[in-house]
Parts: sequence; C-alpha cells; structure tokens
Amino acid sequence: MKTPIHIAVTGAAGQISYALIFRIIEGDLAGQDQPVVLHLLDIPAAMKDLEGIRMEMEDFASPLLAGVVSTDDPKVAFENADIAFLVGARPRGPGMERQDLLSVNAEIFSVQGLALNEMAHPGVKVLVVGNPANTNALIAAKNAPNLSTRSFSAMTRLDHNRAVSMLATRCGCSVADIRQMIIWGNHSSTQYPDLHHALVRGKPALEGVEEDWFHGPFISAVQKRGAEVIAMRGKSSAASAANAALEHMRSWIMGTPEDDWVSMAVYSDGSYGIAEGLMYSFPVRIRDGDYEIVQGLPIDAFSLERMRLTEKELLMEKEMVKHLF
Ligand code: NAD
Ligand code: LMR
Repeated sequence: MKTPIHIAVTGAAGQISYALIFRIIEGDLAGQDQPVVLHLLDIPAAMKDLEGIRMEMEDFASPLLAGVVSTDDPKVAFENADIAFLVGARPRGPGMERQDLLSVNAEIFSVQGLALNEMAHPGVKVLVVGNPANTNALIAAKNAPNLSTRSFSAMTRLDHNRAVSMLATRCGCSVADIRQMIIWGNHSSTQYPDLHHALVRGKPALEGVEEDWFHGPFISAVQKRGAEVIAMRGKSSAASAANAALEHMRSWIMGTPEDDWVSMAVYSDGSYGIAEGLMYSFPVRIRDGDYEIVQGLPIDAFSLERMRLTEKELLMEKEMVKHLF
C-alpha cells in the first residue's frame, strides 16, 4: 500500500459532500491502491451531522480509509492537505442568481485561502465547487500567496458533462463518442458552451447538428441547467455535482486522454486574449499532475463575443470582492 494522501472536503455535512466522500473512500478518485485520510470541515452547528457521517465512513469498512478528521477549524482541515474540495458555501435557492451569493460566500473563501496557505502541502490541488465558484477560487488563491495560483481551480466540469450529454442525445450517440467539448468562462448563466471544436465519433459536431440548434437551444439549455434542476428539486444538483468534482480532480491527478481535453476554470494567463488573473474556464490538457491551457484554437466572431461577455461578468465579480484580496 502507498503512503496515505490527505484530502480535505469542506461543507462536509452538505448534500454534495455526502455524494462525494464515499466515492473517494471507494477508490474512485485516486485508485484502489491509494489510502486516504479524509479531513471533513463544516460549521460548528453541523458537528453532530459530521459525527454521523464519520460513523458511516467507519461502517463502510473501506480498506482505503486510513483516518478521518472532523473539525470546524479550517487550519485543522487543511493540515498537510494534498487535495482540497472546497464545497462548503450557502447554495443558491429558487430565483436567486449566483451573484446574489457573492457577498454571503466570499468571506468563507478568504478565511480558507489563508488557512490553506499556512497549512496545506505546497503542491496542494484545490477545487472550488461552492458558488460563485470562479470568484471564490480567485479569493482563495489571492489569500494564499505562498501557494502557486496553479494550485487553484473552479468547477465547470458539471457544465462540460451537461453539454456532452445534451450533444450526445441530439446526435443519438453515446457520451463516449463525444470529444473536445469546451466550456469558456464563468460557471454561471454567461458561460459559453462551444461546439466549434467538438467531435462526434471523430467528425466535427457542427457537421451533424444544425447551427441554429447550437446557437439557440443548446447554449441556453447548458447555461440554465443548474437553475432548472433547482426549480425541480428545490435544491441544487448534488450527485451530478459530486461526480463532476470527482472527475475534475481525477483528471488533474491522472491526466487527460491523448485525444481529448477537459474544461476547468484556472488562473488566466492571457490565453485567447482573456484578461490575466481571472479564474476563467478553458479547455486544458493534463500530464503528470499539471495542466496546460489548449492553445491555438481558431475562434470566430460568434465565439469571441460570448467569451468576452462571460469575461466581463468575471471582471465585475472580481471588482466586487477586491477588498478581500
Ligand atoms: P448544502 O447546503 O447541502 O451544503 C453546504 C454545506 O456547507 C453545509 O453543510 C454548510 O453547513 C456548509 N458550510 C457553510 N459555510 C461553511 C463554512 N464556512 N465552512 C465549512 N462549511 C460550511 O449545499 P450543497 O448542495 O452541498 O452545495 C454546496 C455548494 O456547491 C453551493 O455553493 C452550491 O451552489 C455549489 N454548487 C456548485 C456547482 C458547480 O458546478 N460549481 C454545482 C452544484 C452546486
Ligand atoms: C449548478 O450548476 O447546478 C449549481 O451551480 C447550482 C446553481 O446554483 O446553479
């Protein structure tokens, strides 16, 4: 057996974490030969829930579980963390836009950024799921000056998976036949799901679906899917969000296939003319635990307009929280 890795999960008593933690101790994240110590963080009022979850983890009897730390202290949660899932935040309710959450949730991520800075492993991989995820990730990164900005990311993998699934349904094929999907920008209703580079069974997706469907119903459906699930369930997506979080981190650890990439919100470096220093979703390829933004894709005027629109929203969000940097 390998040396255990330390994985922190915040919002550990919440619905996404409940769907995530047990998959981690089953080995779905880091493999069947990789033991894990789970560090579960939540607020003081949730400690009884966390104790129940800890009991269930024991009862799971996974040979991969090398320890559980339950705490309401971010410093304890992030001690020696190799991987951190920052899930904990107040979720959006019916009728709320993600921006409404900025003021409520932003402070959580400055506190957690500081704690990560002080306590985490220098090579820690951080995924922010709690909304507004991109800007929360930026706040955390800005509060962790000793860590590389490349340690921080935000989740657009759920949007990526939604887009793949909708395209597969439209084409009457399997999700396994789809490659090179891209989500650009913010995990919000301004995100741009782009089919220009997507392949269906190796052929350009736009040879198989009508441009009108792409420009209209497809983009709109991906952008609004989160809100639609909330309208139906009265709660935001949980199992699909946990699965996307797991896949995001697994890709980051294990790499992407030769013939594909994934969407991941990362610290922008000016690629595609996007302002530097935003957590912007790009197509990325990953090797040896390190990502690189896919370069050189041709961008037409239609795409550029939408990439700029979602960039503008992120610039506005950044402006609203800059007092926390
Ligand atoms: P939930 O309400 O079920 O759980 C949130 C948990 O976070 C609660 O247990 C709460 O006590 C805890 N929490 C609150 N403040 C905290 C703090 N300061 N430190 C630690 N824990 C804290 O919510 P959920 O459904 O699990 O969703 C969690 C977040 O994920 C929400 O912000 C939601 O909007 C977001 N989300 C993001 C995506 C995405 O694609 N990026 C998808 C779905 C949901
Ligand atoms: C989602 O996309 O399902 C989540 O971000 C929930 C939300 O607030 O839309």
